[in-house]
Amino acid sequence: MTWLWIIVALVASGLFYWLFILTEGTYLGSRVVVLLYDWYARRYDKVKNILYVNELAYLGLPLSRALAQVDEPVILDVATGTGRLPLAMVRQPDFAGLVLGVEASERMLAEAHEALAGYDRAGLLRGDAHALSLGAASVDAVTCLEALEFMPRPEGVLDEFLRVVKPGGVLLLSNRVGPDAWFFPGRIAGRGNLERRLRARGLEPRTDCWQFHYDLIWATAPVAQAPQTVRKDTHRR
Ligand SMILES: C[S@@+](CC[C@H](N)C(=O)[O-])C[C@H]1O[C@@H](n2cnc3c(N)ncnc32)[C@H](O)[C@@H]1O
Repeated sequence: MTWLWIIVALVASGLFYWLFILTEGTYLGSRVVVLLYDWYARRYDKVKNILYVNELAYLGLPLSRALAQVDEPVILDVATGTGRLPLAMVRQPDFAGLVLGVEASERMLAEAHEALAGYDRAGLLRGDAHALSLGAASVDAVTCLEALEFMPRPEGVLDEFLRVVKPGGVLLLSNRVGPDAWFFPGRIAGRGNLERRLRARGLEPRTDCWQFHYDLIWATAPVAQAPQTVRKDTHRR
């Protein structure tokens, strides 16, 4: 009988670890994910040990280069958290655009507000990645870092990204890789998985190694081909 209790306790603690620690509430629904981030918000930056120099090298400067042809680029950062991507942009003295951060957790958003206070090239709003409150083809770039694997309907989220980004606009997304990607069945995770979904939508993604747990995926939104007009008089003599 004692063995039975030991087995039950082991299974229950394994399940708890998978549901709440490894996958951060993902399989319990968006509300649980957001609730956990509400609890975690104050400690997020410290635990992540986010260093501006790295953010600039891997995110800020490459994104600025990718948008170099756009005069005042509008960037949408989905699931912005404490404002990591917006900070990497607005701290560049020659950034002339606008970064809009969308985030579902109120407390993460409060941290982002604090971090971005005084920067007038950033804006924040509360919202869900599955239903962005922006018009079609309204932004020059969509970024989403360390968040796609937590979305219950990731395909719908990708479609939202492609709806709001302008044709020819930039997508900068992270893909969860490494051993723990196995713990996200039915989500977008695992090397090559996000790239496959993007290719199925007509994009040609490029992968950069970023962190042990994440690849960075760059892509350009498809530009609709103008229908070729066939001149009727071509074969006339
Ligand atoms: C690991 S954090 C990443 C934050 C930020 N992008 C970064 O790289 O530091 C994941 C974030 O996704 C947010 N999130 C999760 N599901 C979301 C959803 N459906 N819509 C918007 N934000 C969401 C969480 O609240 C959390 O702030």
